[in-house]
Amino acid sequence: MSSRLQLDQLIRADNFIDGAWQPAASGQRFAVTDPATGRTITQVADSGPADARAATDAAARAFPAWRDTLPGERAAVLRRWHAAIVEHADALGQLISLEQGKPLAEGRGEVMYGASYVAWFADEATRIYGDIIPQQQRGKRMSAVKEPVGIVAAITPWNFPLAMIARKIAPALAAGCTVVAKPAEDTPLTALALALLAHEAGVPPGVLNVISASRENTVPAVAEWLADSRVRKITFTGSTPVGKHLARESAGTLKKLSLELGGNAPFIVFDDADIDAAVTGLLAAKFRNGGQTCVCPNRVYVQSGIYTRFADRLATQVAALKVGPATDPASQIGPMINARAIDKIARHVDDAVNQGARVLAGGRRLTELGPNYYAPTVLADATSSMQLSCEETFGPVVPLFRFDSEDDAIRAANDTPFGLASYFYSLDVRRIDRVARQLEAGIVGINEGALASEAAPFGGVKESGYGREGSKYGLDDYLSIKYLCQGGLQ
Ligand code: SIN
Repeated sequence: MSSRLQLDQLIRADNFIDGAWQPAASGQRFAVTDPATGRTITQVADSGPADARAATDAAARAFPAWRDTLPGERAAVLRRWHAAIVEHADALGQLISLEQGKPLAEGRGEVMYGASYVAWFADEATRIYGDIIPQQQRGKRMSAVKEPVGIVAAITPWNFPLAMIARKIAPALAAGCTVVAKPAEDTPLTALALALLAHEAGVPPGVLNVISASRENTVPAVAEWLADSRVRKITFTGSTPVGKHLARESAGTLKKLSLELGGNAPFIVFDDADIDAAVTGLLAAKFRNGGQTCVCPNRVYVQSGIYTRFADRLATQVAALKVGPATDPASQIGPMINARAIDKIARHVDDAVNQGARVLAGGRRLTELGPNYYAPTVLADATSSMQLSCEETFGPVVPLFRFDSEDDAIRAANDTPFGLASYFYSLDVRRIDRVARQLEAGIVGINEGALASEAAPFGGVKESGYGREGSKYGLDDYLSIKYLCQGGLQ
């Protein structure tokens, strides 16, 4: 990297296709706004099918050469990209805060989190082993080798504008795939900045292509990838309805899919838990990114014996959380992403209160701060008939449900079509074993609220999707196994 770029130099408004910046074929643009104020940051390319096709054409041209690079060569490129991301951690963190609304410290934290996947998969690139299969017949040798699946389309969400795309692109490139990517319409700037740094780090033209599209144009642009048989894999993080749509629409060309979809995470606190540790863990898990993560606890079940003590301690700490713009270093919770998000949060809280929930903290919009702020909220006496018990609120709201027995808690926790993350607090070793086995989720936090790690497999069960990101398993989704059988060896 020649010299460190400042925030304004990282902001790109065009698509990145075949190693070059280009406007949408239609010439259309749409506004990316600061969720704290509603002000336009810049106008980016509003891509359609022609741009999606141009990205696939570039990825197809680049694939044979990238596939044939040595794993060590791909690892070296990924290490340079990682170094460039870390070198720009401050500016990238500011960019995340600007377009997504995370407080600055969290924005920088996300940069390092996303970068950790790039470093991880740089190492994993050199560990893609196959197998020599023990001989079955004389004169025949059988083996299994792993090959890149081909062109990967990555479709990523707004809540982690850097980490989610990094943890899709890094394993794809490590495996020898080429990539076409479309970040969420709310937060395309960080993804475009990552493409800029990847290019400067030596990712060859066409190996990584990023296009932006408005909400309206996303469907036709992505439809182009879904129908194109050259695109061999879709990796998506986002809502379950969109995940199902992608699965249906890509069936025509039988693409490989990784779907990291919605959650409705339960957080169970048993009578025998360390209450202070449980409150601390819940604060960490629930208020990360203002409650806007797929793994945020959405339903908190507290056993009767400690319900009131737990609720009081939690409400005191939640009421003390500082809400404000991402640019204020004191802010712990920033604005929500947009008006739709804030309306959903308000709808969930109003519905719960109308059905008898008691507000212990928050419970209102903070319009004095701006259009998209909501007060961190604790609601007691939540019940299963409330909307927030079956839909992800995706905001800073903690509903507290009361339970009596372990069986009741597990039944309630599993009573959802989703199965991404779950959490529980208990100091009883036998209960820990029982509950961990029975929770229907891809991820279980046991006396721990902070689960994110590049070394761990991230993904869900049930309608939270399939596939795993990160860890030694994270490359499998980008590889296919080829069986070689060589005869005539006697
Ligand atoms: C997500 O919200 O989808 C990802 C959260 C994480 O990586 O911990």
